[in-house]
Amino acid sequence: MARLRKVVFPVAGLGTRFLPATKVVAKEMLPVLDRPLIQYAVDEAVDAGADTLVFVTNRYKHSIADYFDSAYELEETLERAGKRELLAMVQGLLPPHVRCVYVTQEQALGLGHAVLCAKTVIGDEPFGIILPDDLIVNDGPGALRQMVARATDGGGVLAVEEVPHAETGKYGIVDVEAGGDRIRHMVEKPKPADAPSNLAVVGRYVLPARIFELLEKTTPGAGGEIQLTDAIAALLAETPVLAHRFEGTRFDCGNKAGMVRATLHFASIDPELRHLVGGIA
Ligand code: G1P
Repeated sequence: MARLRKVVFPVAGLGTRFLPATKVVAKEMLPVLDRPLIQYAVDEAVDAGADTLVFVTNRYKHSIADYFDSAYELEETLERAGKRELLAMVQGLLPPHVRCVYVTQEQALGLGHAVLCAKTVIGDEPFGIILPDDLIVNDGPGALRQMVARATDGGGVLAVEEVPHAETGKYGIVDVEAGGDRIRHMVEKPKPADAPSNLAVVGRYVLPARIFELLEKTTPGAGGEIQLTDAIAALLAETPVLAHRFEGTRFDCGNKAGMVRATLHFASIDPELRHLVGGIA
């Protein structure tokens, strides 16, 4: 695949696992050390070559748009105080060539529905999806960039990792052809007894625009929601979709334990904080 220009961030979830904080703060704005979760996701998209970031939000998530907007008073104050490093930091959250587009998901009908809300912005080109809850860190190319390198014209790539069998009910689970990476079958949140494997999709997808037509035909599935997994399952019959076992470490920041682990990880590589977490992270 030549290039991936657009990445969708479904960020309309309520973040109930982090109440009461998420009563007023978008879950994606919760910090892992000093950077909000969404910043890690956006950095990964830019690393993969994206120049258009599409946020699928709801009316409670204005803080995400505010965060990426310029902050005139703050910047002016930092400028006058000669705080150049801080100024560069707040002005450099996104490279100048990258633009943000905000789309509203009016009803919480599921991840597939959230992605479908981005249809008109994506148009007819392949695109990426990043679920910011899944924070993936590594020293080399980001997970999405690794996936773009493997994507073929018209095909798809999903990031996968092995999870404990008992946890298949939390993920989309794939069945991969013997000795290869092509996905044969995919099912959303199966009980361990029904799961075709323990290979779980984590929150990174590279997909062709064809997925939108399939999403339009997708009826509510697991949990009564319109599932992205079900539309991808239909896509499998038409085009190769690869399971990519990414290089890197994933932190599931959709729950408190994952947030704490991610925070400890970044503290452990921070010269000023590492002494606090010695032996823990
Ligand atoms: C979503 C997807 C699921 C995927 C998971 C990865 O589920 O529906 O297929 O495995 O993200 O984090 P959610 O975590 O939104 O329930």
